[in-house]
Amino acid sequence: MTTTAAMDFDHVELLIGSVESAADANAKAVRNTVLSPRFYTTDFAAMDRLNIDSVRAEWDVMMKEYEGDNNHDHFQRDAQFAEEVKTLMPQLSPEMRQEFLDFLISSLTSEFSGCILYNEVRKNVTNPDIKQLMTYMARDESRHAGFINQSLKDFDLGIDLGQLKRTKSYTFFRPKFIFYATYLSEKIGYARYITIYRQLESHPDKRFHPIFRWFERWCNDEFRHGESFALIMRSQPELLRGINLLWIRFFIVAVYATMYVRDHTRPLLHQAMGFKSTEYDYEVFRITSEIARQVFPVEVDIDHPTFRACMTRLVDLSIANAKAKERGGVMGLWGQATSALGAAWTFGRLYLLPVKRNNLPKDIRVQPAW
Ligand SMILES: [Fe+2]
Ligand SMILES: [Fe+2]
Repeated sequence: MTTTAAMDFDHVELLIGSVESAADANAKAVRNTVLSPRFYTTDFAAMDRLNIDSVRAEWDVMMKEYEGDNNHDHFQRDAQFAEEVKTLMPQLSPEMRQEFLDFLISSLTSEFSGCILYNEVRKNVTNPDIKQLMTYMARDESRHAGFINQSLKDFDLGIDLGQLKRTKSYTFFRPKFIFYATYLSEKIGYARYITIYRQLESHPDKRFHPIFRWFERWCNDEFRHGESFALIMRSQPELLRGINLLWIRFFIVAVYATMYVRDHTRPLLHQAMGFKSTEYDYEVFRITSEIARQVFPVEVDIDHPTFRACMTRLVDLSIANAKAKERGGVMGLWGQATSALGAAWTFGRLYLLPVKRNNLPKDIRVQPAW
């Protein structure tokens, strides 16, 4: 291990904690932090009133794709899977193992978060378009969550999903905030999985777990989920103008910043794939921003030097905050307060950076061509 990676890992341990038992894994999935995936609930009556008629033609094509269900047999492990787990997993260093477990647990939590939200909407609406869509998306997310959970079970660290559903707290978001946030997280999910898939496709020696072989077809589900929210938002044009542009900007910055800080707690994981966390994240931002032109009239400038400097600063502040927390006492509290203030200030600077404007295309849908 290089010195830098070792130094990095001191920070990583502070930030992600370690998972030694199934109880630790379950506790990690339940815990809500600024960086961890959350569970959401919303105004179901407002969801029920959505009218998507203005995008009907594109909607119907999309629903046919869901119905065709081309991934119905994809989330099954082959014989080679077990073999690869048996030979590859013992080769992971303890530090790398912790980062990989953190990756699996947070991915599972966010897949399952989608599953719960879509299922709740499905149960609480009668609007046939929305009910049908939510049924398909919940189906996909439940497969995704179950598939990741099998890999956690290989480590005897399976998550009790029923228990997680009952014990994790829920955040209420108005439907429009659900649309902005979920659209972004579905498209980011696509961009993350396809970027990893392409990297390991060209460097198979760096594929340290068989689950990555599943990412290509998997991420097409996420892409389509994102398309669904794009169509919903385009069918409600008031969500994409006026004051809402400020909300869109807020969600883009918040989602990007959270992802960036979170990913920088896993330097070894990215290193093992032949990436640096920073270059991986900017590739994911680039793809996501490109796709989001289908729906968002504003785009953050990810190449602006201040944008990049502020992202780096947020990582430093989150390390400082974790160190202060560990130190404890008055100085620890002081350290936490100053790093929280610093993070708020930095976030404000990111938010106020000039944005680029997009004219929305007439044809809404985009193909997953990355
Ligand atoms: Fe998913
Ligand atoms: Fe999804």
